Amino acid sequence: MNFEIIQKSEGSRARLGRLLTPHGVVETPCFMPVGTAATVKAIFPKDLEEEGIKLVLANLYHLLLRPGISLIRDFGGLHQFMGWNGPILTDSGGFQVFSLSSFCKIFPEGVRFKSPINGSMLLLTPENAITTQLDLGSDIVMSLDQCPPWPSKEKDLLEATRRTIQWAKRGKETWLRHQQKGASSRCSLFSLFGIIQGGTDTRLRIYCAEELLNIGFDGYAIGGLCVGEPIEESFATIAAVSSFLDEAVPKYVMGMGHPWQIVQMVDLGIDLFDCVLPTRLARHGSAYVEEEGIIHIKNARFKKDGSPLDHRCCCYACQKFSRAYIHHLLKSKEILGIMLLSMHNLLFYNRLMKEIRLFLSHGQWNDFLGRWRNKKITK
Ligand code: GUN
Ligand code: ZN
Repeated sequence: MNFEIIQKSEGSRARLGRLLTPHGVVETPCFMPVGTAATVKAIFPKDLEEEGIKLVLANLYHLLLRPGISLIRDFGGLHQFMGWNGPILTDSGGFQVFSLSSFCKIFPEGVRFKSPINGSMLLLTPENAITTQLDLGSDIVMSLDQCPPWPSKEKDLLEATRRTIQWAKRGKETWLRHQQKGASSRCSLFSLFGIIQGGTDTRLRIYCAEELLNIGFDGYAIGGLCVGEPIEESFATIAAVSSFLDEAVPKYVMGMGHPWQIVQMVDLGIDLFDCVLPTRLARHGSAYVEEEGIIHIKNARFKKDGSPLDHRCCCYACQKFSRAYIHHLLKSKEILGIMLLSMHNLLFYNRLMKEIRLFLSHGQWNDFLGRWRNKKITK
């Protein structure tokens, strides 16, 4: 097992854990910044490292399209290519292939899709999704899934769930074959996660979770959320799946993560999170501020504001620069503005995760929850 629970909170499913990977230990609950194209947009890897960010996410789909997996492999793997020596989780493409390709069609062997970059046809299979992630040197490999849109007809939802289970089975077989081939001692620290689908149908979700548990994975992700369903239904789904899964396994909710949602998901027993929000909001000129919520720094009221983004934050942007300066950078479309905001927002998330872990370690989770209920960032 690559995962251990260090401490459980009383009266809640929240827990403190440790996930072992070939590139180091990840303390959970953990938020991973999204590094889609082998870069966390506008952030130096050295800054991620210095700030204690442990795990980043990259997308097989984007890297398949550009620059191609064999090129990255020729450059010594994804870690070396992108200058990041910490753990990397790679998403399998099961979400992106259906949402980002202009053409995609499912065949028994996998999914055929058209590259939006050069129009070439590509084939993603549950087998090559695993082998290519292994070629990248990913620490946490995700199995190929089919993420159905919301709403979907019952029949389509069932079909996508069954296919996800079949693909998970074929992915696991590929994983085992690979492990037998290269049985090095480090091998066991690589993880394969299964992805649970089933829309907002709790019975279908439980069925999928049960089947994936039978196949056996190192961790379990809940996919297919935040695709348009009401947020109460997303949480009901997470609550049902999380309580069904064995406590001892790491649980990951994919692509969902306003700060307040993360706090609630931790409360439901989720360990891993990713979300584009902190870096995407930065590119749109928005910053997370402890006492004010999300502020839009291009707003005229910041033109002459000499205070830092957040006086409680000790990131480089807040130590060195005023809101007025960052306002000016964004108005002038200067890249530095986006870099500073990205750094600040990521550190906001990282600080949140550190606090969550601190309170959990002191057995004070309920105090933490109570504090957050009174905050502004409660979206
Ligand atoms: N990222 C966000 N949601 C999903 C999902 O359902 N599947 C995969 N593979 N990635 C995701
Ligand atoms: Zn800051």
